[in-house]
Amino acid sequence: MAEEIITHSAEETANWGREFAKRLSAPVLVLLTGELGSGKTTLTKGIVAGLGAAREEEVTSPTFTLVHVYGKPAKVYHADLYLIESFHDFETLGLEDIFAKPAVVILEWSERFPLQSPWPQVLIRLEHHGGDARRIRVA
Ligand SMILES: Nc1ncnc2c1ncn2[C@@H]1O[C@H](COP(=O)(O)OP(=O)(O)OP(=O)(O)O)[C@@H](O)[C@H]1O
Ligand SMILES: [Mg+2]
Repeated sequence: MAEEIITHSAEETANWGREFAKRLSAPVLVLLTGELGSGKTTLTKGIVAGLGAAREEEVTSPTFTLVHVYGKPAKVYHADLYLIESFHDFETLGLEDIFAKPAVVILEWSERFPLQSPWPQVLIRLEHHGGDARRIRVA
């Protein structure tokens, strides 16, 4: 289902994420790829809210904390591989444990470490498109 949209504000990107969330059912891996500030965390806010796991404002960048968990019981895992420097660090994220139960796993900078997972995957690419515009492509 190749698809492309252009958004013109952070709010529009998050709203698209809310709609997109309706298509997701656990277990699924959502791989986000795109430059700094392209909107990966903003999009995640919408997806997490759309899944009913947390409010948008509760979703923050996991850049330093590495993995955030939303929902009780855990429904959505959100990780950022940007600061992960080695395969050893990658392993310390404990992603194997996360994959033990069906969930929605959202990864920013997913291309840094190709992941071995039997779960279905959705790849979303985000790009700056001038000013506040962002191009979002789903593959
Ligand atoms: N159309 C848009 N979609 C998403 N964010 C936008 C848009 N227009 C402006 N912004 C702004 O761009 C920034 C996107 O930041 P965000 O943290 O979501 O990016 P990111 O891809 O997660 O970056 P990083 O790689 O640092 O984690 C925010 O400050 C947001 O308000
Ligand atoms: Mg981010």
